[in-house]
Amino acid sequence: MSIIGTRVYHYNIQDYGLEQIKEGDYSVFFAKAAINQEMIALAPISFVWSAIFQRSKWKYQQRAYRYCYLDVGHIAAHLSLAAIELGLETCQIVAFYDNKINDLLNVDGKEDSVLYLSLVGFPK
Ligand SMILES: Cc1cc2nc3c(=O)[nH]c(=O)nc-3n(C[C@H](O)[C@H](O)[C@H](O)COP(=O)(O)O)c2cc1C
Repeated sequence: MSIIGTRVYHYNIQDYGLEQIKEGDYSVFFAKAAINQEMIALAPISFVWSAIFQRSKWKYQQRAYRYCYLDVGHIAAHLSLAAIELGLETCQIVAFYDNKINDLLNVDGKEDSVLYLSLVGFPK
């Protein structure tokens, strides 16, 4: 998982911490990579859900992709519930150019790929 605000972070699952992977404001680039959906540039924080497929494939083999996509749907749903509980708005996004987001995150799009995006922001 990565987080994009005015910086881009990767969530390191081994030490449960964020590591910065890019400095600077990538919000407009990110919105363009998601077919120019303006709300993406405006969101204070965006979550990019990605998967390293081998982490599921070693166990679930050809069913691994199904599980990755089911998992990310559940994760985004829980993020959505947490955001609403905090009085925030959220929007789930699946319309994006995979390659552009993968390039932004420095992942290859084959063994490690973006699956889904979640935006979180303040209510109007
Ligand atoms: C799998 C999935 C993908 C979605 N992709 C997009 C998207 O790319 N762009 C978008 O504006 N809304 C997308 N939506 C819809 C929004 O996440 C949201 O559900 C919708 O805007 C209705 O929100 P509301 O009930 O708060 O008005 C998607 C929803 C789902 C479940």
